[in-house]
Amino acid sequence: MRQQTTTHSLALHGGTPIRTAPFPNRGHIGAEEKAAVAALFDAAIESGIAPGYNGAEEIAYCEEFAAFMGGGYVDAVNSGTTGIYVALHALDLEPFTEVIVGAVTDPGGMMPIPLLNLIPMVADTTPNSYNVGPEQIEALITPLTRAIIVPHIAGEPADMINIMKVARQYGIPVIEDCSQSHGARLDDKLVGTFGDIAVFSTMSGKHHSSGGQGGLVYTQDEMRYQIIRRASDRGKPFFLPPGATNVMASLNFNLNDLAAAIGRVQLKKLPDIIDRRRQIVAKLNEGIAGLQTVTIPAPVPGAEPSYWFLRMCFHPQYTSYDKGTFCDALRAEGLPVTTDYRAALPHTMDWFTHRRVFGNSGYPWTSPDYKGDTHHTFPCSNAQAIMDTCFNLGIHEGWEEQDIEDAVTIFKKVESVMRET
Ligand SMILES: Cc1ncc(COP(=O)(O)O)c(C=O)c1O
Repeated sequence: MRQQTTTHSLALHGGTPIRTAPFPNRGHIGAEEKAAVAALFDAAIESGIAPGYNGAEEIAYCEEFAAFMGGGYVDAVNSGTTGIYVALHALDLEPFTEVIVGAVTDPGGMMPIPLLNLIPMVADTTPNSYNVGPEQIEALITPLTRAIIVPHIAGEPADMINIMKVARQYGIPVIEDCSQSHGARLDDKLVGTFGDIAVFSTMSGKHHSSGGQGGLVYTQDEMRYQIIRRASDRGKPFFLPPGATNVMASLNFNLNDLAAAIGRVQLKKLPDIIDRRRQIVAKLNEGIAGLQTVTIPAPVPGAEPSYWFLRMCFHPQYTSYDKGTFCDALRAEGLPVTTDYRAALPHTMDWFTHRRVFGNSGYPWTSPDYKGDTHHTFPCSNAQAIMDTCFNLGIHEGWEEQDIEDAVTIFKKVESVMRET
């Protein structure tokens, strides 16, 4: 039976929206970033030497990010996508071997695999999560598996404790894709410190950013770091004896000092950004307690997410409306929600299904040198199911108390109309 409130009260059906003013933009770039970049320009004008790359700013940014991670080594690159490419390339994997990767990710978290002539094996998520888990990974391990990429989606840590158990048992290196999870923790350890290499995207919208595009590749292993540096800069013979020449073919994935100057300022803001996001989610959770149509899902035990956005669950058993209409109603009330994490999972996109990596060859899948199952399909039923039930709320540290209150009011209003008892 539908509850008392009439559907006319919903903004979706012509009622007055709770919120007419837009929710705030992040405002995370400010005078400090401008001053840092201006200082580099001033120095360049004064000296006549253009700002470059691998200079003092970039070295300091890498050192400061390594310190943020609790020690280790960092190479700054020009995107999260190229960071994944560099991390894989630095593992020096034989072509036509397999790399397991979580199904819910950005295409840039997956495309470097076939670009290196490696075969992507797409692991399902754990039930009710955007993140891949140990069982789903183990199910895809074959004699050809050479690496595992674990994306931590939406700021929620994947179950790294158990994933690492599986990886170590089989002796397979792990790349953590922390592009969406700067500063998230599991059992009080930062994500990125569990696996062998971690990659962070620092494009403009990430928790902390180095300007328009950027990325960081992190490892605790000095020898691996040295290879990463070569892999990210045309194989230059860094750390090799004098006389060595470029040792591996690669592209130029360097960041630059102007971007690093922005990244350094942003990094100082990162702890507060994460704290505020956690506070906001705690308050939202409190505010919507008792609602049935929508909940904030619990992360894996021991996790402290950093919430790049907030994943929320829609519960269709309490309403005859579908998720799309429910989200339309939230949006009409003024709430910034996205109905689907993305239009399609990367491995269901044309580039993957038509194997468009190297012209029409179908490589790397069609190579006679690939000895695995060429026709492997990846139904990923958990991932598909979670895409059908979850939606994303665009929270960020710029939200004030009124924004949180309005969000709660909106959820309550939409539930009061759409929930059926
Ligand atoms: C999980 C994940 N991996 C990789 C990337 C690619 O990063 P970039 O956009 O910096 O290339 C992203 C981008 O958002 C991402 O979310």
